[in-house]
Amino acid sequence: MKTTAVILAAGQGTRMKSELPKVLHKVSDKPMIGWVIEQLKNAGCDELIAVLGHKGEMVEPLINKDCRIVYQHKQLGTGHALIQAAKQLKDEAGCVLVVCGDTPLLKAETLQILQKRHQEEGNLVTVLTAIASEPFGYGRIIRNDRRQITAIVEEKDATTEQKRIDEINSGTYCFDQQFLLKALTQLDTNNAQGEYYLTDVVKLAALEGQVGGYILEDFEETLGVNNRIQLAAAERIMRLRKAHELMLNGVTIIDPEHTYIDSTVTVGSDTVIWPNVILQGQTIIGKNCEIGANSRLTDAIIGDRTIIQNSIVWESTVGDYCTIGPFAYIRPQSVLADHVKVGDFVELKKSTVASGSKIPHLSYIGDAVVGAGVNIGCGTITCNYDGKNKHQTVIEDHAFIGSNTNLVAPMTVGAGATIGAGSTLSKDVPPEALALTRAELKIKENWRKNK
Ligand code: UD1
Ligand code: CA
Repeated sequence: MKTTAVILAAGQGTRMKSELPKVLHKVSDKPMIGWVIEQLKNAGCDELIAVLGHKGEMVEPLINKDCRIVYQHKQLGTGHALIQAAKQLKDEAGCVLVVCGDTPLLKAETLQILQKRHQEEGNLVTVLTAIASEPFGYGRIIRNDRRQITAIVEEKDATTEQKRIDEINSGTYCFDQQFLLKALTQLDTNNAQGEYYLTDVVKLAALEGQVGGYILEDFEETLGVNNRIQLAAAERIMRLRKAHELMLNGVTIIDPEHTYIDSTVTVGSDTVIWPNVILQGQTIIGKNCEIGANSRLTDAIIGDRTIIQNSIVWESTVGDYCTIGPFAYIRPQSVLADHVKVGDFVELKKSTVASGSKIPHLSYIGDAVVGAGVNIGCGTITCNYDGKNKHQTVIEDHAFIGSNTNLVAPMTVGAGATIGAGSTLSKDVPPEALALTRAELKIKENWRKNK
């Protein structure tokens, strides 16, 4: 049977106190509505319709590849929102899966089970419910003495007795399409909030036929994000999901509660990740690496057996057996081969470093091509910018750059050349040569006494 999914996302999300529409707030690496869309697609829905409203023009460009967009110009309630989507539906057999744009933790498997039960049981509506230890704020599931669902009562409309019910409405439902189209015309606003409640469709279904309920064991999955406290709760759960996936694949994460890894990141087995590490975007880390505390890797590719301490690697590639940091800053378009050492307080920008080279301390290397087996002494700087343009520095294989050297680009240090410490060079140095620019040392004996 054809399944159309409808995502309700027109609400302002007043409780977020934000300029950004609620569903665009991110959980881990994706906006909430992005997670919902991904799971609906994985669940195999035939078509997705999103109902947008408040600041919908900000949401639309991010989702219009995946969803047909309809607008609800006035937010008159969840029932009213679904009426806008229903205008796109034909009066024919089908299943309409409704989810809220603010439940990012829902999984595709759950949506599949919900649909399966709905069809097998021949229900007019099947509601995804959960048992909540703190049900405050959610609609409560009302069951008769035969345990059949007869209605959903909103917090604001509930009696004291109903407020004690701990089975909550997740806001996710499967509807019989033809029944839904009919029931939506019967909604009214006779309730505490003066809104068209989608939940009232459940009451109508109970009168006309059968309502099913699928009680999800894991309440967390149904978490609806209405404020930033719930946003942080969703973030934590999403973060732990990723950490658990990696740990089950052989990665050691010392403290998963304090490790922040995007869903898009790959990490090889026997790599150890220390606390406060942030791994983002298309980062790929090899096997047997150690990512030390407080490192941040964004779109970084790291080989095997590399150690990174307290450093930032950004849109760059690092080979096998490298050691990076502490406090290194590797900026975009840098490429490091194997066995490279980039030590403390070194900044690298758009530079390539060939195998076995060392830049151990306090250097700035920008727009440079560094050969193999090069040693760059402490405090070396490539002067790559003349105030207008950037220029390249080439340091060929096995060159030795003495400490505190300034290489004024464009220039080349030939293979095997040696630069004396403290030099400022603005001309090419031939291979195997020694170059140094140093003022002659003057010593005046007993200088202070004779003053
Ligand atoms: C709703 C349910 C409640 C359930 C809870 C689960 C109703 C009446 N109540 O309450 O039973 O426990 O979700 O999280 O349905 N929306 C629109 N247009 C509107 C109003 C809302 O598109 O006019 C969208 C919102 O953007 C949001 C979703 O519908 O994504 C839910 O709206 P929200 O205001 O958060 O409903 P709750 O009060 O949480
Ligand atoms: Ca909500």
